[in-house]
Amino acid sequence: MKMAEIRTIQETDEAAFMRFQAALLREKSPDVKVQEVTDFAAFVAESKTQETVATHLDYSTATTYYYFLANGELAASITCRWELDKGTLLKHGGHIDFEIAKSYQNKGIMTELIQFAFAQYRKRGIFDIMITTNEIDAFSRRTIEKNGGELDKITAITEDGQNLRLAHYWVHLTPDAELDEKVVKSYNAHSNHNMRRPVVKQEIVAFMRNKQHQLDGFLGEVEAFAHVENVPIIPHETVVYFQFLLQSLQPKHILEVGTAIGFSALLMADSAQDASVTTIERNPEMAELARENFTRYDSRKQITLIEGDAIDVLSELTETFDFAFMDSAKSKYIVFLPEILKNLAVGGIIVIDDVFQGGDVTKDIADIKRNQRGIYRGLHKLFDATLDNPGLNATLVPLGDGILMIRKLQETIDLG
Ligand SMILES: C[S@@+](CC[C@H](N)C(=O)[O-])C[C@H]1O[C@@H](n2cnc3c(N)ncnc32)[C@H](O)[C@@H]1O
Repeated sequence: MKMAEIRTIQETDEAAFMRFQAALLREKSPDVKVQEVTDFAAFVAESKTQETVATHLDYSTATTYYYFLANGELAASITCRWELDKGTLLKHGGHIDFEIAKSYQNKGIMTELIQFAFAQYRKRGIFDIMITTNEIDAFSRRTIEKNGGELDKITAITEDGQNLRLAHYWVHLTPDAELDEKVVKSYNAHSNHNMRRPVVKQEIVAFMRNKQHQLDGFLGEVEAFAHVENVPIIPHETVVYFQFLLQSLQPKHILEVGTAIGFSALLMADSAQDASVTTIERNPEMAELARENFTRYDSRKQITLIEGDAIDVLSELTETFDFAFMDSAKSKYIVFLPEILKNLAVGGIIVIDDVFQGGDVTKDIADIKRNQRGIYRGLHKLFDATLDNPGLNATLVPLGDGILMIRKLQETIDLG
């Protein structure tokens, strides 16, 4: 027996599509926008193109998925836009548009379609989804809220000469471990939750992640793999910042604590092509994946992976570094710092990732969950030792979950 299916439109769907469109047109109200299709073949061709190439600089690439009932009738559609920074999408378009014929509402079809769309966003590493709808469209608002939408704000806009009030929702997806057969076992959907508690406005984060230069080639592949597999790598806004920083500084000897699958090591090696990169990782599964990535992509043989705990490895290092990146267990940054400073040249820079603990560092310790207090104390010791230290320049930068940047100004540093 034929089952209901969700898929993109094809040339053979003309009759079902036209009936669906006629139903929407009949029901046309301010809540439902319908652009009438008359040339179906051209519409199918354009839909296919739009999936990968936007027809205007200001348009996002987009894919529309249709819900076909078992009897072949078309009940609903959902359009997923992949680039929120295009045109006015951040202001009033949002990621998703959906349409459903009235007779099919309240049967769970829209929820099925939305969950299908969310799975497509997860696959692309997009976890923060913006959806807007007319304030008075009760069905859409109920559907969005049922699917995890959190109301952000209501704004007044004018569209096609009509004054509308738009409800803006955000849905924050967690990468669902059950959606895909996971290659990586060390991390799950709840790993790295601070990355989903951004410390600056959500729209700004989305803007920085989507508007700035995207990675292609092997770096793009490794970044996408990490997102799909929940491996906590530096977020895209930090990626772009690192490219800028390292391309400008051109350090010669880089040290990294916390390799994971080797993404940031490869990025740094790519940005400073004359540099050596020594990177330390204690998790054997991560080290294995990093090794594979280095074999495949470290074409200039810049990277040396040391498998082990930084606590043991750092004290054994004899090389002098001019750039260090700490991206490991947060409570241990203050423990590793003296060792790293010992091996850092005067004028050298240390970047420390994830220092805001999702904003918890600003709170009183009594308000911090007991199992998070070790990290909280470690980070505060780090701030106390560095921010006002006369032997160092130090600055906090609100990228990702916050980075602390330190420059060593003199040979001997008293960390107090
Ligand atoms: C956030 S991930 C690193 C991501 C990587 N820097 C990137 O952006 O591509 C942190 C990694 O640090 C490793 N790690 C944590 N504590 C460590 C330690 N004491 N010694 C070595 N590695 C450690 C973890 O196993 C994990 O793979």
